Amino acid sequence: MYFLGIDVGTGGTRALVIDERGRVIASATEEHQAFASPRIGWAEQDPCDWWRACGVAVRKALAQGHLRGDQIASVGLSGQMHGAVLLNEQARVVRPALIWCDVRTEKQSRDLTAQIGTERLIRLTCNPALANFTLTKCLWVRENEAAKWSRVRSLLLPKDYVRFELTGERATDVADASGTLLLDVAHRRWSKEILGLVQMDESLLPTLYESPDICGRISTAGAAATGLQSGTPVVAGAGDQAAGAIGMGAVSPGTVSATIGTSGVVFAATSRPALDARGRLHTFCHAVPGRWMVMGVTQAAGLSLRWFRDQFGVGADGQLESYESLTTEAAKAPPGCAGLLWAPYLMGERTPYLDPTARGILVGLTASHTRAHVIRAILEGVAFSLRDTFTIFQEIEVPVKTIRLGGGGARSALWQQIQADVYGQRVETVEAEEGAAYGAAILAGVGAKAWPSVDAACDSVVRVARNISPNSEDSLVMEKAYAVYRRIYPAMKSILN
Ligand code: XUL
Repeated sequence: MYFLGIDVGTGGTRALVIDERGRVIASATEEHQAFASPRIGWAEQDPCDWWRACGVAVRKALAQGHLRGDQIASVGLSGQMHGAVLLNEQARVVRPALIWCDVRTEKQSRDLTAQIGTERLIRLTCNPALANFTLTKCLWVRENEAAKWSRVRSLLLPKDYVRFELTGERATDVADASGTLLLDVAHRRWSKEILGLVQMDESLLPTLYESPDICGRISTAGAAATGLQSGTPVVAGAGDQAAGAIGMGAVSPGTVSATIGTSGVVFAATSRPALDARGRLHTFCHAVPGRWMVMGVTQAAGLSLRWFRDQFGVGADGQLESYESLTTEAAKAPPGCAGLLWAPYLMGERTPYLDPTARGILVGLTASHTRAHVIRAILEGVAFSLRDTFTIFQEIEVPVKTIRLGGGGARSALWQQIQADVYGQRVETVEAEEGAAYGAAILAGVGAKAWPSVDAACDSVVRVARNISPNSEDSLVMEKAYAVYRRIYPAMKSILN
């Protein structure tokens, strides 16, 4: 039996096939058109392009694994969270989707806070109003494009639009639905109170499921587009963060993942909704029935290094330097970078400041600093920013026993060591670091009863690859540097405001 995970990301859609032992049999990615940003802070994608990419990626993965559609026992979906896909009566897309990083809705988010109040929002949905969340995107369309809004009959999240094309079902999972600000996260159901307060009809929303539940079957049209067999069961799946955490085994309290991709996320599974009264963390349902998760987000984690490379890492031949050569250079600088610090707020910051106007800063340059110091300062600054989430975890008593590293950042030995030193704790890497598509495939396997539960699946397929212990001397240096790092944001606010 084989299970297929499909991750509808921002840059592309990835299809990945695993077997009953969790081994990756095939995987393929089809890129999306880059998101359109007609104005600063806007980010839009065409949902039809995700559906096109899904068909191509699934066909490529099946071909790569020499698999027939009827060998896939079940399918799981994962995807970028928060985006608003708006469909009309005929189930056609009304306008391009406003995606997760679209922050044009700051006004709607402020208005919601003024109308309902942060405390009540947190009580009803476990989260404050943020411009990233889906509800604020709907309110923007309602206020600014009233004619289009009047035609909207259905609201779907990105991966759920792909599911709709695959199966004809309007369905979602509680983990992805948590990022809409329309879910009563504590009770895992749509919030009638919020819907009433914003005067939105529940009939707009898809049916809710737990992540491993089967919620539809591949339709004839879905089969024709992908090469899958019609009738193949499709499980609800999860938003990319929860699905990625499953792929790393971050499913029970105590096991925490720290992932450095474009953004950086520190993610902990919890047995009850863990709330931060100031709303600095996201409190969402986990993709494991009966469990929740809490996560902090650094907006520009891997993006900080990418920005440096794109601006200052172009060789004489016009070629971009590899990340490996950048981190090899960074290793020549000492821990603490002789007083140089990087605050990675290139795209504003979510945790802990919830401030889209925060800006990136390099502090403490002297004539003795080299490029190596600057690169190392970027790696350390991103780790300090992730540590801010661990600091809040401590405040609200979220247990951290094991830290697992993921994302592109976990591939660099230097960034692994820096993270161990900055967190002051041993960290682990896992063998199959395959991201959200892998978690979606595991959920498909649980839906098909290959494993009795998500916990059992993770126990059997997730294996630790390496342990990295903090270096006690370097940890002390990092501890002092972190204390200085914490003072950068307040100082920046006093200069730039
Ligand atoms: C999570 C978030 C991103 C998106 C994009 O809150 O905004 O991880 O899901 O992948």
